[in-house]
Amino acid sequence: MDLQLSDEQRMIRDMARDFAQNEISPIAAHHDETGEFPHETIMRMGEQGFMGIEVPEEYGGVGMDTIAYVLALEEISKADAAHAVIMSVCNSLYCYGILRYGTEEQKRQYLQPVASGEAIGSYALTEPQSGSDAGNMRVAAPLSLDGSHYIINGTKSWITSGPVAKYIVAFAQTDPEAKPRHRGVSALIVDTEEPGFELGKTEPKLGIRASATCEIHFEDYKCPVEARLGKEGEGFKISLAVLDAGRIGIAAQALGIAEAAYEASVQYARDRQAFGHKIGHFQMIQQKLADMKCRIEASRLLMYQAALAKEAWKKTERRYTLESSIAKLYASETAMWVTTQAIQIHGGMGYSKELPVERYFRDAKVTEIYEGTSEIQRMVIARLETGLR
Ligand code: CAA
Repeated sequence: MDLQLSDEQRMIRDMARDFAQNEISPIAAHHDETGEFPHETIMRMGEQGFMGIEVPEEYGGVGMDTIAYVLALEEISKADAAHAVIMSVCNSLYCYGILRYGTEEQKRQYLQPVASGEAIGSYALTEPQSGSDAGNMRVAAPLSLDGSHYIINGTKSWITSGPVAKYIVAFAQTDPEAKPRHRGVSALIVDTEEPGFELGKTEPKLGIRASATCEIHFEDYKCPVEARLGKEGEGFKISLAVLDAGRIGIAAQALGIAEAAYEASVQYARDRQAFGHKIGHFQMIQQKLADMKCRIEASRLLMYQAALAKEAWKKTERRYTLESSIAKLYASETAMWVTTQAIQIHGGMGYSKELPVERYFRDAKVTEIYEGTSEIQRMVIARLETGLR
């Protein structure tokens, strides 16, 4: 694996680090406490190009590669995982899907505003009855009699950035008779300012509280056929291919959370005295720090491996599902484990809201859940390895 970073990759990583430490870190605790969406910092991240890192400049992005994207996302996540998920959904679940499957016209109309930071993009797959079993969706979108548009009805849930998104790539059954059912799903780009789109309840969350998550309702929403992404009936495959990219972003987010918790723990081990010594002298603390470091570095390598596999796809079109699921699974479980150890090292202070460690712990949990739970990642990996279903 060649991990020599280019000047461009280093530049975006350093820009993201400066922005994260100077602009996001100071406000992260406040937004976590209040659950207020960080409109200003998200707008400025958009202006700096962080919402369309892999999108070519002609479509409003900065035209870099997946390594540049994960490096930047990791830095943002070290400061605040909520900002990171908003960035990740814009880049990988929204922009990547349109870049890969969109027509020229769709790229101009729907990709450019999000990649350039003028608008927020989102992705709607989950429904109240279908989370892990994503193919079991009920949102219906039959074609109108004149064939000009799809009429969407139903509810999608757990939509990251739902309350603030201008555009959402939504998945719906355009052919309920299709067998198997997932072959009747199509991907439709929805403009949230059009009639028939409504916001539902907002989710009160354990972590990533500054990111906005809600249900969305469709009532006779008219989606022009020109806003269908890819072919009719290809939507479910598009949703999974896009998640292959998304899961690399979640690996980067998890890595950033774990690193923040680890760095705080190293500092605490150097400063905190007990029994007349710095606690970093104690072997039980040393063991925790060493294991945290090893798992973090292993996660980083798996994330790079997945990012490079995604880059290779551009030439070979070989799916990188396996690399992506491995990276997401390992990095998210590392984030959960490392943040648990970080609280233990900090003792009572780790449990207090005076330090950010408890926030890292709460934020880490969701990385084992969204974009496919750890159980789903294990299923995907085992299916690919055995060839059995
Ligand atoms: N890329 C392209 N095509 C794929 C694919 C991939 N990675 N994986 C499978 N496919 C294809 C299959 O080849 C199959 O094609 P055919 O119709 O030609 O046979 C089709 O897609 C269906 O595949 P499966 O039969 O494997 O589908 P399944 O119903 O068994 O489910 C699953 C597969 C892996 C469990 C999938 O449902 C899954 O990933 N579930 C988790 C859902 C998830 O991750 N949700 C995240 C929501 S978004 C989110 O969380 C964002 C956020 O808030 C931050």
